[in-house]
Amino acid sequence: MSIAIVRTVADLRAQVDQWHRAGLRVAMVPTMGALHDGHLTLVRRGRERADKVVASVFVNPTQFGPNEDFTRYPRDEAGDAAKLASAGCDLLFAPGVEVMYPTGFATSIDVGPIATRWEGAFRPGHFQGVATVVTKLLSQARADIACFGEKDFQQLAVIRQLVRDLDLPVAIEGVPTVREADGLALSSRNAYLSADQRQVAGQLNRVLRDTITKALTRPDAVEAACQEGASALLAAGFASVDYLAIVDAATLEPLSTLGTAPARILCTARIGGVRLLDNMPVV
Ligand code: PAF
Repeated sequence: MSIAIVRTVADLRAQVDQWHRAGLRVAMVPTMGALHDGHLTLVRRGRERADKVVASVFVNPTQFGPNEDFTRYPRDEAGDAAKLASAGCDLLFAPGVEVMYPTGFATSIDVGPIATRWEGAFRPGHFQGVATVVTKLLSQARADIACFGEKDFQQLAVIRQLVRDLDLPVAIEGVPTVREADGLALSSRNAYLSADQRQVAGQLNRVLRDTITKALTRPDAVEAACQEGASALLAAGFASVDYLAIVDAATLEPLSTLGTAPARILCTARIGGVRLLDNMPVV
């Protein structure tokens, strides 16, 4: 099974325009490749919501910090193309860096406060890079809907904000996280874990579920529950916890008490050099 691959905006638009002229709805799934079942779930969701699905694979340099893993980020275009084809994807957009950031490129999208906390505080510039490339991909493809994983919950919030603020004519579809049997969220970066680190990594999901239970039992002591959760992660073998917080699911502002508004637990913890992110609904 194979999939058509386009590498220029003109070829991408020619195909999407042809589908639109035939009255078909188009879904887009932006990715950085190293695809796993989480990505393929996005493709399957796209198929449910639209007639055609286009995935992009582009390892976006502007969302990596100077000491991050841009050069060693896993790349396997042939493997990704085969997986996309088997998941029912219709088209792969795989632009080079010169297509996305031609000489003279100067624009950067800053979505404001929602991007400055949590990941934004630990990875300065990360969300500007994400917002800029996602804005480009959405305007290049002109798809009707675009699917993103809830695994990167703050990224999803950033994307919803920019689509709203810039009046982009695309519906954003958030798709629940796909997990291993022990609860570890699927991530391309799980490939960096040694066998011992992989054992520890499985504890992240358990600790977050325990923290939610504590917070629901004592809704006015949310911060204490989060501190206990962070201590439990260190005791389980994590090297450090960047943040573990229960937040308003819409604004991502931290909560000290639980009310009726939707809340979300967010966490990033490190094992060796690997940062693991997870999040779940609380109420
Ligand atoms: O989630 C990702 O894979 C990336 O951040 C995205 C949305 C494709 C932008 O590069």
